[in-house]
Amino acid sequence: MSSRYYFQLGSNFELSRSELASVYPEIGWQLVAPGILTGHFHQDFSPQTIIDQLGGTIKIFKHLQKLDITNEDQLRDQLTKYLSNLEAPKITIGLAEIGRDHLPKMEVSSLKKDLELAGKKVRYVAGSRHGLSAAVLLHKEVIELVLIQTQDGCYLAQTVAVQNIDHWSKKDRGKPYANRKKGLLPPKVARIMVNLAVGNADSAGQVLCDPFCGTGTILMEALEKSLTVIGADNDQAAVDGTTTNLNWLATEMNLPLNFMITNADATQFQPSQQPAFIVTEPFLGRPKPKADQIPNIFKGLSKLYLGCFKNWRKFLPNHAKVVMVFPRALASSSGLKKDYTLHKLIDNLSKLGYITQSEPILYHRPGAVIAREIYIFEYHFLNISEK
Ligand SMILES: C[S@@+](CC[C@H](N)C(=O)[O-])C[C@H]1O[C@@H](n2cnc3c(N)ncnc32)[C@H](O)[C@@H]1O
Repeated sequence: MSSRYYFQLGSNFELSRSELASVYPEIGWQLVAPGILTGHFHQDFSPQTIIDQLGGTIKIFKHLQKLDITNEDQLRDQLTKYLSNLEAPKITIGLAEIGRDHLPKMEVSSLKKDLELAGKKVRYVAGSRHGLSAAVLLHKEVIELVLIQTQDGCYLAQTVAVQNIDHWSKKDRGKPYANRKKGLLPPKVARIMVNLAVGNADSAGQVLCDPFCGTGTILMEALEKSLTVIGADNDQAAVDGTTTNLNWLATEMNLPLNFMITNADATQFQPSQQPAFIVTEPFLGRPKPKADQIPNIFKGLSKLYLGCFKNWRKFLPNHAKVVMVFPRALASSSGLKKDYTLHKLIDNLSKLGYITQSEPILYHRPGAVIAREIYIFEYHFLNISEK
């Protein structure tokens, strides 16, 4: 038996969608409302366990029923009927409306009155029209009902899992070593990148390498997913900092110390164990270059990255996955006439055996000059004489 669930995705829809498609390729994901994907899962599916593995899903809703309504009074009647059938005499409820911005807001006061007439004691927790925050849902026992307006009608669902924001912000702000100059990657994006590499494979014990580890954001996510992690950086402060962060995470979460961090140049680094995955946000140049500096900076980065890809061929196994951030200078904020990219280099990587798996996924903060394009490659052995 399977049930329908709705996944509410994070602010970078494309990144979050790609993560789900990669971790659950067998689910025929469908977009039903803005930011909402739906799919069927087997009944023994544990929504909270699943959401804890994902960086890009904010909430999971379980489908309850299709609402047979043509006006708002009927909607209120059906909600009253559903809630008055619940066993508990006292309930705390929240309401979320998705895809219904063009319709009148649910009138909670009359819903409460109707429920009280039906003998239910109701406490209502007010939130935004799109639902209660993860912080409220994590810490309060609330039944959050969700109305999802799709092209086929309106569906009633209930929130059954929520992103553990306490855990994410602890990793983001509580880790002992941080260095803003290294352009810290948000842990959720790091988790998405790890998931894009690992997909639905059993990751336990597999080796993941980040040769530009910085503060270790990517390696922390991989360690939490039970991978063995290998990192390198050519800055000793980053090597020591990443080691401190991984020790901290391992202690906090009771994880084995399956990591090794080395001071090395990414174009030379040889990991001590063969990695099945390279996931990295490399050196991207300065964050706010002037327009006339960009061509030269990108030339230098192109040379550095090519050196890395050539080096990685010495140790990557066939079908290894490489998930890597590339810089993209945005015309809108750089003063350039058009975006400046490394697409020429990326196209040429296929000659080295690195085959792109999909279109790049763009990720950047508002106003950023240098955006990040996340690429997924699969490495294929070429003719051995070329190695
Ligand atoms: C963008 S930061 C990585 C940040 C990391 N993802 C994080 O969230 O903490 C790039 C890192 O690459 C390192 N680096 C620069 N050039 C390098 C090279 N040639 N070989 C290895 N590491 C290098 C820098 O010291 C820096 O720590």
